Amino acid sequence: MIASSRVGQHKSATWPISDERAYGICESRAEPSADDRGDRIVLDHLQIVKGRNDVLIAADGQEYVDLIAGFGALLLGHCREPIVERVRRQLDDVWLTGRLNVPVIAEARDLVESQIGSPYRLVQFCSGGAEAIEFAIRIAAVTSGRKAFVGFSGSMHGKSVAASALCWGRQFVELQNLCTLPFVSTDPEAAILAQLEQRLASNAVAAVFLELIQGTSGAHEASPAFYREVGELCREHGTLCIVDEMLTGFYRSGSLSYSREIGLSPDILVFGKALGNGFPAAAVLCRDGIEITKAMLPGSTYSDNPLAAAAVAASLAEMTRLDVMSRTAVIHRTAVERLAPLREHGIAIRGRGALWVLELPHGASTLQVQKTALSANVLVSVHGQYVRLLPPATISRENLQYALGAVGDACLGSLDG
Ligand SMILES: Cc1ncc(COP(=O)(O)O)c(C=O)c1O
Repeated sequence: MIASSRVGQHKSATWPISDERAYGICESRAEPSADDRGDRIVLDHLQIVKGRNDVLIAADGQEYVDLIAGFGALLLGHCREPIVERVRRQLDDVWLTGRLNVPVIAEARDLVESQIGSPYRLVQFCSGGAEAIEFAIRIAAVTSGRKAFVGFSGSMHGKSVAASALCWGRQFVELQNLCTLPFVSTDPEAAILAQLEQRLASNAVAAVFLELIQGTSGAHEASPAFYREVGELCREHGTLCIVDEMLTGFYRSGSLSYSREIGLSPDILVFGKALGNGFPAAAVLCRDGIEITKAMLPGSTYSDNPLAAAAVAASLAEMTRLDVMSRTAVIHRTAVERLAPLREHGIAIRGRGALWVLELPHGASTLQVQKTALSANVLVSVHGQYVRLLPPATISRENLQYALGAVGDACLGSLDG
């Protein structure tokens, strides 16, 4: 942990129901972006040459506490030695086999399955979230024999054409039979459930996609009862329930799996990000009874990749060794303590574990917050009115306190200007 002391010195369409437009749904929403243009404007000049745990180091020697953490993927921080070592060994052994058996893939699969537990089987490692979500779409379509899908406004499932069109991105291709329902950021839960029930009553919906805590869109979340009701409605109508835990899973939001924590048992679970601690890896898990067939088009050039599997195996071992769950609990407590006072100033605070979003009132500039935080040597990502904080679980207490203080001050400063 090289930088704690040094950083601390800086100052601070065609849908079976004909009246879709009347319900104001099934339309494109504001685009949640994993690499917002705003970030690029403020952070473009940085030349990052090294990462060490919770700190990024620029070419000019400046060190920054990293609350972007590879859009949340680096739960164990940059270049954690046991993970580096394991990937390095795999580099010497074999990189890619075209999905032939390699022991490290079986090892990583066993580790994921033993942690997530029954009734789930890992059916494929993918090279990223969008690829995993697209595979989940194909699994649901073939399993159910249906072709319609439902997502919720503001959810992020990736930037591939179908994954983005589920929730926000219809600007590229007109995809029929994808429906975006409103979410709790705008509508009451009961009204959303009524709309969902109406959609599902057509018995044409293959799957409903959920992002339980909308990490790219304000960390909005519905109640556990709402999610369990969605699961129940899906079961009643022969629709698969698919939960995207790319960001929340493997302790980012505090627990191994937020859906498991709240007693939701989806048919398909998607994990990633923390799973490989920044090495491109995602995993699709299906409940027993869902069989993978050729018609689902499993696999891709880089799926079931031995290097990614090595990163996954080492990351999961490190999560256990470091007791990551208790670390995210400390981050949670510290964030609540340090950020809660901002509420008095009209700033909304939402999040769990090591996933926090500050929503500034209209008129305040998140780009200014990003700029001010940068000048205090703290990196945050912003989107619209949201400032997102995704510290590694391994962040030092000193850097966490410092960075939260700096971001809080930056937010307060933005209210004046
Ligand atoms: C919840 C969630 N699902 C899916 C994705 C897409 O993953 P990828 O960027 O690896 O395609 C993201 C990316 O931010 C995400 O946050």
